Amino acid sequence: MTIPEENKKLDLNRIVYIGRTFDEYIDMFALSDDFLKGKRILDCPAGACSFTAIGNKKGYDITACDIAYYYDVEELKDKGLQDIEHAMETMRNVRDNYKWEYFKDIESLRRHRLSALHDVTNDRREAKKNYIPAALPQLPFEDNSFDVLLSAHFLFMYADRLNYQFHIDTLNELLRVTKDHIRIFPLVDLEGNTYKSLDKTLHYLEEIGCTTEIVQVPYEFQIHANSMLIISKGMENDKL
Ligand SMILES: C[S@@+](CC[C@H](N)C(=O)[O-])C[C@H]1O[C@@H](n2cnc3c(N)ncnc32)[C@H](O)[C@@H]1O
Repeated sequence: MTIPEENKKLDLNRIVYIGRTFDEYIDMFALSDDFLKGKRILDCPAGACSFTAIGNKKGYDITACDIAYYYDVEELKDKGLQDIEHAMETMRNVRDNYKWEYFKDIESLRRHRLSALHDVTNDRREAKKNYIPAALPQLPFEDNSFDVLLSAHFLFMYADRLNYQFHIDTLNELLRVTKDHIRIFPLVDLEGNTYKSLDKTLHYLEEIGCTTEIVQVPYEFQIHANSMLIISKGMENDKL
């Protein structure tokens, strides 16, 4: 693979290439057919999630972007298979931090993660144009390119390695490429604690003219990870 000069620091070992399924996204972002129909959607970062693969087959207009897409399909598939096995091993020690309802056990979780990896791998082979390499906090899209942007298991969750300024720079960039609103899930870190700078972040967003709303959703696998943040752009955000 060829990694662009500015991303030479990107090391595949630092990326966890595990993704959720289309159906999990429907629940975690409280989506419906009526909502998705006719909208341009960006999943960012999408990783090994099958939302784009399955969604576009259903007739929606979805684009995925992720830093991992600088790597080629086969390399990422192998990485994904290893990451799933490693995550399942780790899961045995932390299973009490999760609710075993959506997935009844670790085997059912493994099947869902493998199915997402399978779908995203095939779709990247068939519809490469829908998978855009991108290194946040920068995105390679024009202003207002998408109606809605969905962002799962990245911001807030990795607060131990992504600092507050990275969160603000990334949120500004997500808002720049989005016309209407962005949805972020979940609002907790890997320990299940609410992101420590959430209030400060909401205050910042309101100051720049956005409206924020925290909405409980019908998806809770990691305990306490059951709400999303909706950030709607105000008119004055056109300058973002
Ligand atoms: C835990 S995965 C979440 C994937 C998907 N949203 C989901 O919920 O299944 C986090 C993703 O963030 C991507 N990532 C990490 N740092 C990034 C950056 N600076 N820019 C873009 N993507 C990044 C990783 O490659 C990985 O695919």
